[in-house]
Amino acid sequence: MKQKDSKREDNTVFVGIDLGTSRSSISASNNTREWIESYVGWPKDFIALQVVGKPVLFGAEALKNRLSLDLCRPLEHGVIKEGIERSEEAVKEIIKYLIELAKPEPDQKIHAVVGVPADTLKVNKLAIRKAVSEFVHSLMVVSEPFAVAYGMDLLNNSLVIDIGAGTTDFCIMHGTIPSEEDQKTILAAGDYIDEQLYSYLTERYPNAKFNKNMVRQFKEQHSFVREVPGEVRVEIPVDGKPVMHDITNEIRRACESILPAIVETTTEMIARFDPEFQVKIKNNIVLAGGGSLIKGIREYLQDALKEYGSCRVTCVEDPLFAGSNGALKLAEDMPAKYWETL
Ligand SMILES: Nc1ncnc2c1ncn2[C@@H]1O[C@H](COP(=O)(O)OP(=O)(O)OP(=O)(O)O)[C@@H](O)[C@H]1O
Ligand SMILES: [Mg+2]
Repeated sequence: MKQKDSKREDNTVFVGIDLGTSRSSISASNNTREWIESYVGWPKDFIALQVVGKPVLFGAEALKNRLSLDLCRPLEHGVIKEGIERSEEAVKEIIKYLIELAKPEPDQKIHAVVGVPADTLKVNKLAIRKAVSEFVHSLMVVSEPFAVAYGMDLLNNSLVIDIGAGTTDFCIMHGTIPSEEDQKTILAAGDYIDEQLYSYLTERYPNAKFNKNMVRQFKEQHSFVREVPGEVRVEIPVDGKPVMHDITNEIRRACESILPAIVETTTEMIARFDPEFQVKIKNNIVLAGGGSLIKGIREYLQDALKEYGSCRVTCVEDPLFAGSNGALKLAEDMPAKYWETL
């Protein structure tokens, strides 16, 4: 057990927030766990306000009512779109809403650790501080994969690969707080797969009517790489009538499109280390994020990396909360001097 000031404990809620491009989650020391899709929508006008009945909507509800709303997904490619007031406002609303969902007592002080994609830490730090200063007492911003690693006690000789929507984030842990060199972000991630799948399907079925949202759902239901688990068929309307379409090859090609960049970045990052550490890190690679749910991706990466010696790749158990759980653990363990009081 760690020593904690009991007074501080009573009056304090620690929260870990994973601010993601597609989904954001919160884990709190009062045992709440919640997540929303990272969409914020404001009614377009007075009629829209009457229709939706609320000044601001979030997540799935915002998507459902998108025709009445100015919709914002503030973190595309992992960066708060700078200078765009709407994005900053949207980040603020998301954090405020997540904290509401965590139901702190009215007089409690909130200490928050917020995880953001690795490469963009500097850009996002300022924007996040602005966004949370009104409702958080103290704050620390960390990289998302570091939060995952901390939550899973992978502090030494490990590599976390967080395959998200906007970005795939890499973080090598070697017994200290990771430096910039230990982290890398690439854009080969979920959104990229969606774009590829959309264009493959448009090419193969020019008369079928579908949108990006449907394409993402096809992917989430049927994603796989390498071995075909069976024919993948989905219903897509043609001239207003539902028709079954075979999308097996398109799904595979789209999911596989992110693999070369992931393998390349992994080998590059590990190659910087001494051979002795290389072996240790390679035997402790952990996949996180929604992309870790792609069937066969763990096996694929393990085999691809084996070309250069033994290697073990595993997946986190709970990709939805691995980031926010880790951020919470960090918040609870953090010595006072690391906190930034707002
Ligand atoms: N079963 C699945 N198969 C393939 N992809 C999936 C599956 N489930 C979710 N995804 C994808 O994972 C991505 C979301 O993952 P995650 O919540 O980790 O991202 P994020 O944290 O919002 O994004 P980022 O880390 O880039 O900011 C989306 O692209 C989503 O479509
Ligand atoms: Mg993420």
